[in-house]
Amino acid sequence: MLPPLDTPRLLVRERTLADLESCLEMDRDPDVTRHIAGPWGDPVAHRQFVQYRMTRHYPPGLGYWSIRERSDPERFVGWVLLIPDHGAGPDVEIGWRLVRSAWGRGIASEAAAALVRHAFETVRLPRVVADIASENHASLRVARKLGMQRVGPAMSDGMQYERYRLVREDLTAI
Ligand SMILES: CC(C)(COP(=O)(O)OP(=O)(O)OC[C@H]1O[C@@H](n2cnc3c(N)ncnc32)[C@H](O)[C@@H]1OP(=O)(O)O)[C@@H](O)C(=O)NCCC(=O)NCCS
Repeated sequence: MLPPLDTPRLLVRERTLADLESCLEMDRDPDVTRHIAGPWGDPVAHRQFVQYRMTRHYPPGLGYWSIRERSDPERFVGWVLLIPDHGAGPDVEIGWRLVRSAWGRGIASEAAAALVRHAFETVRLPRVVADIASENHASLRVARKLGMQRVGPAMSDGMQYERYRLVREDLTAI
């Protein structure tokens, strides 16, 4: 069971199968998945992919958290993740994804900051990484505001990304 990572504005709670349809609907928006490799165009593979990630085992303290606003607690607005890099580790990936209508209000940054504190203070991870497409300016901005630094290029699932990293000792920005 993952701990809640609630913030002043947000309810950030373990993602469950109850969020499956909301997650699929979010991913079907091409604006949302524009910079992310995945089986978005194949409904069967897409559902299997998300279901697997919802039901597989993650190491203690890792997984996905769904985001809702305290002002509208029934409405799914996205998720943040902290999972083994490429499914296996040893690095741990941090990530964020929101429905289009929730962009631009600081929600991803607020949820990600709570997640970084969890990663370093509770799970005691030495570092977290994120692979971000160089055209994904909003996501790059979220990463940089957390204090993440670019460490080099990364290829994943046939897509070119930039790898960003935040080391626990360097945590100053949040
Ligand atoms: C990336 C994403 C989660 C950001 O969510 P968000 O809640 O809108 O992000 P925030 O509001 O916390 O911060 C976004 C920052 O990027 C900036 N930004 C947004 N669009 C931008 C653009 N086109 N160019 C430059 N900066 C941009 C915002 O101004 C903000 O910076 P600021 O706080 O200094 O003003 C959201 O855009 C999303 O879900 N995208 C699709 C999924 C995705 O790409 N996930 C990341 C994969 S690596």
